[in-house]
Amino acid sequence: MSFIEIRGLRKEFADITPLAGVDFSVEKGDVVCLIGPSGTGKSTLIRCINRLETPTSGEIFIDGENVCEKDADIPALRKKVGMVFQSFNLFGHKSIIDNIMMPQIDLLGKTEQEAESEALKQLKRVGLESKANSMPDELSGGQKQRAAIARALAMHPQVMLFDEPTSALDPTMVTEVKNVIRKLADDGMTMVIVTHEMQLARDIATRVLFMDDGIIYEQGTPFDIFENPKKEKTRSFVLKITRWNWDCTENCYDYIGMSASMEEFCRSRFMSRKQLNSCLLVLDEIFTSYIVPAYHDHDFSFELEVSGDNDKIKLTVNYSGDTDPFEREIDPTSEAIIQKKTKTVLSDEMGKRVFEIVI
Ligand SMILES: Nc1ncnc2c1ncn2[C@@H]1O[C@H](COP(=O)(O)OP(=O)(O)OP(=O)(O)O)[C@@H](O)[C@H]1O
Ligand SMILES: [Mg+2]
Repeated sequence: MSFIEIRGLRKEFADITPLAGVDFSVEKGDVVCLIGPSGTGKSTLIRCINRLETPTSGEIFIDGENVCEKDADIPALRKKVGMVFQSFNLFGHKSIIDNIMMPQIDLLGKTEQEAESEALKQLKRVGLESKANSMPDELSGGQKQRAAIARALAMHPQVMLFDEPTSALDPTMVTEVKNVIRKLADDGMTMVIVTHEMQLARDIATRVLFMDDGIIYEQGTPFDIFENPKKEKTRSFVLKITRWNWDCTENCYDYIGMSASMEEFCRSRFMSRKQLNSCLLVLDEIFTSYIVPAYHDHDFSFELEVSGDNDKIKLTVNYSGDTDPFEREIDPTSEAIIQKKTKTVLSDEMGKRVFEIVI
């Protein structure tokens, strides 16, 4: 039997059944990333695994024990399964080290001294030893999340569950938390992680599970799911996280709305500031130089497509009409900027111009 084995798991709420028969297994050392649209039961699934939620039916075996049984030993389960939430859940009136010592004393029966030395060890592991005596409020979001990870690790769990551990953080703090999670993967920690971060999933996942329709809709390696999804819903979800588009006609040339929407997409992809600025600058120059003068005779739409790790960013301008709006002469400064910031990807097709953004 696998280390975690989930069979026919159902969870019904009064008016919705987010889990309608979930089956999957996790081996020791696996890093399983769960992805899927909002509301498809990812958090509910994670919460069922450590019994913060009671499943309606089905079985969850952890280390051979069915934790869904009525007489399941929940405290023993919680010792085996560490959990890190989106919102840190640190006690605000206790210092960081107290936060990490408390569960060890309460649940594992450790002495203060043992708990303290373990807490310091785990704080060091997440690079926070200097913050042991700080209060949670004195830490940045990224530091709080690392402290929450240290608190879970101090219990020596056999598996760690993460529910969108970086989604409440400013983009600048995401990397430090991701690096801690990467290190855990290198150490061979068994993990189940709900995340939309493809780059993280691509780097560390042994398997990616796409959830929809209350089931594990499709699963495979990161390559299978992100580059070569077989099923339609997986494909459209993955495209949405790698592609942004904007139809200028429908949106009546709302330039502010368009650039804000693209910026939001770039941020959701955790682009660097330099990448983000390049995308916005190129959009701005192309829009003012080519689109505005030609909008009487053409319809336009923009598409920004990024590779999984943001190392390739392509901006495509689709246009209608018989003439090529990119043929016209433009202001030399704008031309210089566009030339410096992009490579035009030659395409024979009339009706589209593809620019690769140079970072
Ligand atoms: N305690 C609850 N009572 C009633 N409905 C709930 C409860 N918890 C979750 N739900 C509903 O179950 C569905 C699945 O919720 P869940 O939070 O698991 O989704 P999710 O995939 O984690 O979404 P997101 O990506 O937004 O975090 C949602 O429709 C949600 O409203
Ligand atoms: Mg959720």
